[in-house]
Amino acid sequence: MANKVQPSGRESFFPASELIVSKTDLKGRITYANRLFCKVAGYTEAELIGQPHSIIRHPDMPRAVFKLLWDTIETRREIFAYVKNMAHSGNHYWVFAHVTPSFAADGTLIGYHSNRRVPNRKILESAIIPLYAEVLRIESSHPNGKQALAAGYKALTDFVASQKVGYDELVFSLESAA
Ligand SMILES: Cc1cc2nc3c(=O)[nH]c(=O)nc-3n(C[C@H](O)[C@H](O)[C@H](O)COP(=O)(O)O)c2cc1C
Repeated sequence: MANKVQPSGRESFFPASELIVSKTDLKGRITYANRLFCKVAGYTEAELIGQPHSIIRHPDMPRAVFKLLWDTIETRREIFAYVKNMAHSGNHYWVFAHVTPSFAADGTLIGYHSNRRVPNRKILESAIIPLYAEVLRIESSHPNGKQALAAGYKALTDFVASQKVGYDELVFSLESAA
């Protein structure tokens, strides 16, 4: 399914007591979506299963964040990340995602799993939205895609390094500071 959805500029919300859950195969194609995922994203389960997870990608998200996500999970580590997603309606919704690799009993990597909850608004507005806007600005200033990603990734990882903690620890320290 081609994603022809345009951002509406309107934000959608979901209850803080609930989790948006999905699972993917090794290529990031959706293999499971819970009811809340379908509801918030505005797709039926049948429309989601088999689609790339980028079906809900929002154009405001810097590519560097997804590079960091994939570099982390492909090396069998977990990551926490703030993500702005886009529903079928074009509305956006922010999530705080925990993405983990899934292993078979023999240790083989078989796919990925993500649980998302409502993000902390204070952190989102004071740290994440300005950071992502800056990384996106840097990415957009490069006409060459590869250079854009490299420059965005450098800006993102420099920011993390300047905080003297890893991205996971960064989001946790932001969470505990809020
Ligand atoms: C388990 C899992 C969950 C993901 N969740 C999201 C998500 O909620 N939103 C999103 O835009 N990308 C998500 N991604 C990343 C997408 O696979 C993809 O890298 C991203 O949307 C960027 O797509 P693009 O490289 O086609 O621009 C997830 C990936 C995995 C493995």
